[in-house]
Amino acid sequence: MKDVYILGIESSCDETSAAVVKNGRELLSNVISSQIDVHRRYGGVVPEIAGRNHLLAIMPVIDEAINKAGITKEDIDAVAVTYGAGLIGCLLVGVSAAKAFAYALGKPLVKVNHIQGHISANFIAFPELQPPFLSLVASGGHTSIIAVDDYTSFNPVSATMDDAIGEAFDKVARILGLPYPGGPEIDRRAKNGNANIRFCPNLKARADHAYSFSGLKTAVVNYVHNLTQRGEEIPVDDICASFTAEAVGYLVDTFVSVAKERGLEKAVLAGGVAANSYLRGTLAEACKKENIKLFVPPPVLCTDNAAMIATRGYYAFIKGEDVADLSLNAVSNL
Ligand code: KG4
Ligand code: ZN
Repeated sequence: MKDVYILGIESSCDETSAAVVKNGRELLSNVISSQIDVHRRYGGVVPEIAGRNHLLAIMPVIDEAINKAGITKEDIDAVAVTYGAGLIGCLLVGVSAAKAFAYALGKPLVKVNHIQGHISANFIAFPELQPPFLSLVASGGHTSIIAVDDYTSFNPVSATMDDAIGEAFDKVARILGLPYPGGPEIDRRAKNGNANIRFCPNLKARADHAYSFSGLKTAVVNYVHNLTQRGEEIPVDDICASFTAEAVGYLVDTFVSVAKERGLEKAVLAGGVAANSYLRGTLAEACKKENIKLFVPPPVLCTDNAAMIATRGYYAFIKGEDVADLSLNAVSNL
């Protein structure tokens, strides 16, 4: 059978990325141009600035991905692009570049849901992984449990009712005066701290499996404000360790209870927060206890990248699904 080469393009937030994936599983290139340094001085992603920087980066990043893959533009069978969810001005840059590329070279265009892309990163990291499995998506914009019944069949089981877990990490980091992005910084500081503060004693898995992180986030913010008002020292490392333990414990307990209820033996972790060392360890332990085989991609495939988009696009392409024409538009809330 002829090899299938997919060019993936991702620009939903602050990473401009292009990748080439062969036959859905073999990563030939994954170029990621991060804007973290640009946004750090603002303490978060400024959408307009992000959009402009995507525009500057997108063509060189695509060229580099094709060169690194050792193929030519003509070898590409289809272009897969993130069309949502994300920041609209950012998504539009990737979608426009993908449309232009597809039109100029006469290649099919495949639209990809960003969250489904995050989950599909596992297909690259683990060549033996096959659906069905249950996935836990923990990112800056989403916290969801999604049942993957087939390569292109993603069925939401539960989601957050308010903040995403990554959003809570970033806001807690901000109140503690830690640099953006807060998640990795909290991860580092938590290792030196004691998880000796209980912010939300009642935080536990809900019967409907829905998540809510805003109460925990607010409790940490209030705790820090109270100490500041009393002129007391802020135990940053202990707060990082305690917040992480509470957020991750709750995330994992809920996920494992859904997996047990559904009798699923395979689970995957996905999204930027999947890079968190405490989450990786805690989930691994909980799954082992329940005899659930867990797949966790390496950190570079957890945060935003185009390889995951190319893989998701590959499975749609070979089934003739999600093929888009030049009227494709970006959708900020999918
Ligand atoms: O998936 P992602 O790259 O972008 C979205 O699609 O949202 O996730 C970004 C989120 C940010 O909130 C960032 O702080 C968090 O992932 N993150 C982490 C870690 N690395 C990234 N959170 C906790 N620990 C980490 N090591
Ligand atoms: Zn993402």
